[in-house]
Amino acid sequence: MPLSPTDIEALGARAEQMVNALGTISAEPDRLVRLFLTPEHRRAADRVADWMRAAGLVVSEDALGTVRGRLTGTGPKRLLIGSHIDSVIDAGKYDGPFGVIAGILAAEHFSRSGRKLSFGLDVLAFGDEEGSRFPTTLASSSACAGAFRGETLALADRDGVTLGAAITAYGKSVEDIPAAAYAPGEAAAYVEVHIEQGPVLEVRKEPLGVVTAIIGQTYLNVAFAGEAGHAGTVPMALRRDALAGASEAVLLGESLARATQGEVVATVGRITVAPGATNVIPAQVVAIFDIRAADEAARARLAGELRDGIHAIAQRRHLGVTITSTREVATTPCHPLVQDQLAAAIRRVGGEGLRLGSGAGHDGQAMAKLCPIGMLFVRCRGGISHNPLEYADPRDLGLAVAALIEFIERFDPEKLG
Ligand code: GLV
Ligand code: MN
Ligand code: MN
Repeated sequence: MPLSPTDIEALGARAEQMVNALGTISAEPDRLVRLFLTPEHRRAADRVADWMRAAGLVVSEDALGTVRGRLTGTGPKRLLIGSHIDSVIDAGKYDGPFGVIAGILAAEHFSRSGRKLSFGLDVLAFGDEEGSRFPTTLASSSACAGAFRGETLALADRDGVTLGAAITAYGKSVEDIPAAAYAPGEAAAYVEVHIEQGPVLEVRKEPLGVVTAIIGQTYLNVAFAGEAGHAGTVPMALRRDALAGASEAVLLGESLARATQGEVVATVGRITVAPGATNVIPAQVVAIFDIRAADEAARARLAGELRDGIHAIAQRRHLGVTITSTREVATTPCHPLVQDQLAAAIRRVGGEGLRLGSGAGHDGQAMAKLCPIGMLFVRCRGGISHNPLEYADPRDLGLAVAALIEFIERFDPEKLG
């Protein structure tokens, strides 16, 4: 039986309540900070697991802390529905959690109906989509996809704790990472519901949209080495100031990206400066460049030009420089058939089924190594995201859950081969 407007409204109200509840779980009292494998991640994962159990799902957790709520079907294949519960620093409440909550509410709809689907449903709550703690990302979804990169275990957070050590401190074992992977052929598809994080749906007055592809990203970790000295005594011409070199590099990244007229975007959102005293010339600076473009060649070209330009800056300023890349995520198309099925589901709840690209990264980029993927976007106010002002109307949240239910209702694993 189709969902009534009252049912959809009730789903939206519940989704909002759950988003707000997870939004209170933070490392800091005045802003949302929930990083991978921290006590806050633990508390959020426990809350999600409770919701999954209450929805009638069987809950387990893998070596990367991914919470999995399972509903069995009559056949061996599974439809995976997921998103993430980690956050950026000073985050909004919707980015990630809403996708997990949408999955739980949709799965609950089927578990309560008592009717078995011909396929199983797994709701996945990943812990590492933002990459805010370690200089790597998508570790948890990569493990589920059987594509976890062992070398990332040695990467350290700002306090020098490696990913491997953090997994152990979280009560897990790196030996168990391979067991997180789905068996080949078991996963029929991965679908994620997420706020758009951009303005397109709002401008088009559409509550929901279908993602065509998820943009690729390259990170360049640039470490400049200069010489510390007294801020009052060393003449300007004799300084080897690592921060001044990094500042030139930041502006170079901006101008190279601007010159592409929107094809490539480049951001430096974090710089560390050592020794970090007001009266000492900066000796060591690390700047992380986040470079994104849907076109792989355009992104590689800009990264190459930036590397060359940074080496030239370092040479002119007599600075040492090392450039490493710890994050390289390919542009990932969503499966055409999954896109069509999501568009049909959106139309059934009254939307147009508009298609749009994703400029943000998502767990689907790792899950695409396992199975066909698709994404459903939800309008968010002003397109604002990665900002505590992030907001989505509960009516739109309700429509998104309803569209997901419609999608599941008609999903046929055999059609995807
Ligand atoms: C995650 O939100 C990203 O796009 O970096
Ligand atoms: Mn996200
Ligand atoms: Mn995000």
